[in-house]
Amino acid sequence: MDRWCLIRFMGSISLFVLLLPEGCKAGVQHVGTIYPGFQGSQMTWINLNGLFLISNNSNFAFGFSTTQDVTQFLLVVVHMGSSKVIWSANRGSPVSYSDKFIFGGDGKVSLQKGEAVVWTADTGGKRVSAIEMQDSGNLVLLGNGGSVLWQSFSHPTDTLISNQDFVDGMKLVSDPNSNKLTHILEIKSGDMMLSAGFQTPQPYWSIQKERRMTIDKGGGKPAVASLSGNSWKFYDGNKVFLSQFIFSDSTDANGTWIAVLGNDGFISFYNLDDGGSDSQTKIPSDPCSRPEPCDAHYVCSGNNVCQCPSGLSNRLNCQTEVVSSCDGSNGSTELVSAGDRLNYFALGFVPPSSITDLEGCKSACHGNCSCLAFFFHNSSGNCFLFSDIGSFQNSNAGSSFVAYIKVSSDGGSGSNAGGDGSGEKSFPIVVIIVIGTLIVICGLLYMAFRYHRKKKKMLESPPNTSEDDNFLETLSGMPIRFSYRDLQTATNNFSVKLGQGGFGSVYQGALPDGTQLAVKKLEGMGQGKKEFRAEVSIIGSIHHHHLVRIKGFCAEGTHRLLAYEFMANGSLDKWIFKRNKEEFLLDWETRFNIAVGTAKGLAYLHEDCDVKIIHCDIKPENVLLDGQFLAKVSDFGLAKLMNREQSHVFTTLRGTRGYLAPEWITNYAISEKSDVYSYGMLLLEIIGGRKNFDPTESSEKSHFPSYAFKMMEEGKLKEILDSKLRLDNDDDRVSTSIKVALWCIQEDMNLRPSMTKVVHMLEGLSPVPLPPTSSPLGSRLYSSFFKSTSEEGTSSGPSDCNSDAYLSAVRLSGPR
Ligand SMILES: *[C@@H]1O[C@H](CO)[C@@H](O)[C@H](O)[C@H]1NC(C)=O
Ligand SMILES: *[C@@H]1O[C@H](CO)[C@@H](O)[C@H](O)[C@H]1NC(C)=O
Ligand SMILES: *[C@@H]1O[C@H](CO)[C@@H](O)[C@H](O)[C@H]1NC(C)=O
Ligand SMILES: *[C@@H]1O[C@H](CO)[C@@H](O)[C@H](O)[C@H]1NC(C)=O
Ligand SMILES: *[C@@H]1O[C@H](CO)[C@@H](O)[C@H](O)[C@H]1NC(C)=O
Repeated sequence: MDRWCLIRFMGSISLFVLLLPEGCKAGVQHVGTIYPGFQGSQMTWINLNGLFLISNNSNFAFGFSTTQDVTQFLLVVVHMGSSKVIWSANRGSPVSYSDKFIFGGDGKVSLQKGEAVVWTADTGGKRVSAIEMQDSGNLVLLGNGGSVLWQSFSHPTDTLISNQDFVDGMKLVSDPNSNKLTHILEIKSGDMMLSAGFQTPQPYWSIQKERRMTIDKGGGKPAVASLSGNSWKFYDGNKVFLSQFIFSDSTDANGTWIAVLGNDGFISFYNLDDGGSDSQTKIPSDPCSRPEPCDAHYVCSGNNVCQCPSGLSNRLNCQTEVVSSCDGSNGSTELVSAGDRLNYFALGFVPPSSITDLEGCKSACHGNCSCLAFFFHNSSGNCFLFSDIGSFQNSNAGSSFVAYIKVSSDGGSGSNAGGDGSGEKSFPIVVIIVIGTLIVICGLLYMAFRYHRKKKKMLESPPNTSEDDNFLETLSGMPIRFSYRDLQTATNNFSVKLGQGGFGSVYQGALPDGTQLAVKKLEGMGQGKKEFRAEVSIIGSIHHHHLVRIKGFCAEGTHRLLAYEFMANGSLDKWIFKRNKEEFLLDWETRFNIAVGTAKGLAYLHEDCDVKIIHCDIKPENVLLDGQFLAKVSDFGLAKLMNREQSHVFTTLRGTRGYLAPEWITNYAISEKSDVYSYGMLLLEIIGGRKNFDPTESSEKSHFPSYAFKMMEEGKLKEILDSKLRLDNDDDRVSTSIKVALWCIQEDMNLRPSMTKVVHMLEGLSPVPLPPTSSPLGSRLYSSFFKSTSEEGTSSGPSDCNSDAYLSAVRLSGPR
């Protein structure tokens, strides 16, 4: 069994590297209800993927969820099975990992961003006594006596869920689309409408005009809408069932569905019981009847075909800017006909501004600075003015409109501009300017080309300068971005393999300038380029004498590579676990320096970085030695780059299990003290020159930590030291190191010293008392651990982890 599986078993997702705020407590998940005096940030519950409150039925959870930008978080209610967010508190103003959700002792509930409050539940000043995550997905704030003060079902965002009543006065608002336009759904005066969220909203759908309704009772005015099974049911103010909209042929009457108002303007329906699959039925049915299936003033036809309307196509090929003259700018405007067989989504829903003739309609728009466009219906004389404009529709004969839009008449270079006398006079000047510009551009291009070639030769800079990928280089001291080819060349097409780890294989390489590299080809990367770069920028910004330095990285297509400084003497395990020890023995001096160096590297990660970094995978394979046997910790921060699906890569790691702190199994409270534990195990191995579990040793000695505790009790500390080492009898650094190691592997993590303390103790700056003997639980846990290790060998896949035998082993060995 190993920890990656355990994490999955515990239902949390990305606990690979923990970046904990001050205090370093990993959060505990609450079930059903939380009470006043509760607070924390995304980091507090990172081991739970940010979700601190889960419903009794485990279907819904309340907590922090990441946005597109992985460093920004929303406070949400999420459906666990489908990962669909059904409600969020701070939509549009995400917070960072350290911003706190606070349910104070004073009964106030709020989300902070720094000092500011970005969200608070309006309970009319009443004190909240409990927050419940109900089985329905409703987040409820209760007052004294259990009265409901506030509930998320009454404050929907862009999603409605089965059994949530949508009533008069509520609104769904979509996320903004790329033009920052939102869409709005509301029930108002007996109708339910969708509108484009312009300054003056423009309706584009109404339930009264929806032809797909199944009417039960005609004439009623809907006041309540509720999803139930495969339909959306509408009731009047007295809860009399009026009609329904059936969006799926699924027959499960108890199915849980959500209706989501997307930023495309459609309402879509998703089946949560089926992993959030889309029913494919949309509201509205015609894609062109949405506000912006195309850009403003383009014509939508058929299935989202966008065309420039005939009237505007000769005007700079539609690149004309629609203008408003209300802002006091004094450019003159003119009205341009866009065409005469057009329609507009809002026309069926709004009354005409006036009834007049074409000239009257023109002058109404001309004389009204906020009018951007008008539509005129010749046979009825209806004139519609609009102050914002979305896309047009092709008219289906009959009700055809002429459309005019307002454009700037001086900057516009209309169809009649150009080709007059003055143009000919300026011809020679134009030619000279054009030729001059061309020469300058060619010169610049040539210089850029030479510069580029030179840089490429030196391999100092990535050749691919597309996109926004180069932001890292703009920051000094940041890792260089290599192209895949660069690294292929540098490693001679990955020919010399240095090793194989859980994250992938490592190859030797060299830059053209002679710099030696170790290139790690990451396997099974679960993240996109952007997240990868974000992580690399964090990892790459960490510099310390005892941490392996990242020289550069590559994110190209599916390739993810990291280039590290080359460490001539490889990893520590090769030295302390040498089969033939006479071959080369690391002397005590070197071993001690390696132990101190590793401790310093870890202390830096834990205490001196901007964000606390917990390594999670301290073991001899991750301590590298340079030419002078200076120890450097490697692979810090890497685990965060992997995703859950790829986590089985870790299960093939040799030896990792032996370094795992017991709290990984017994509870959720993981902190940097878990690294201290792993460090203690590593230190013991450095001292003993052997693996902590070695079945080839006698039974007394096979579990080295137990043996070490026993020898300490019996006062025979020297027995623990590698028998092949010769050293002064009065080198008290040996007993100091052993005692430090035994302090580090204390089962109770509060007894373990911090890494800084470890450094002080090793360096003799701080006294080292005799450590207490570990409780029997630890050895029991460990012996079962090691048994499973030796039985399974090193090839346990994820399937082993999910077996019943595995689960019961965890339950039996845990303290609760
Ligand atoms: C969760 O279950 C407990 C025990 O059955 C019950 O007392 C509590 O009210 C439930 N909480 C919610 C939010 O349903
Ligand atoms: C739906 O739920 C009701 C009550 O909770 C139950 O009696 C019924 O059997 C369920 N139907 C299905 C198809 O699960
Ligand atoms: C706009 O132009 C008119 C006349 O051309 C002038 O009287 C007015 O002051 C101008 N307004 C601004 C804001 O420049
Ligand atoms: C518009 O209506 C007027 C009178 O109703 C008619 O004379 C004219 O031909 C119509 N124009 C178009 C383009 O249909
Ligand atoms: C100007 O046009 C807008 C719509 O574009 C309309 O709401 C407003 O009433 C109009 N103002 C006047 C004075 O006609």
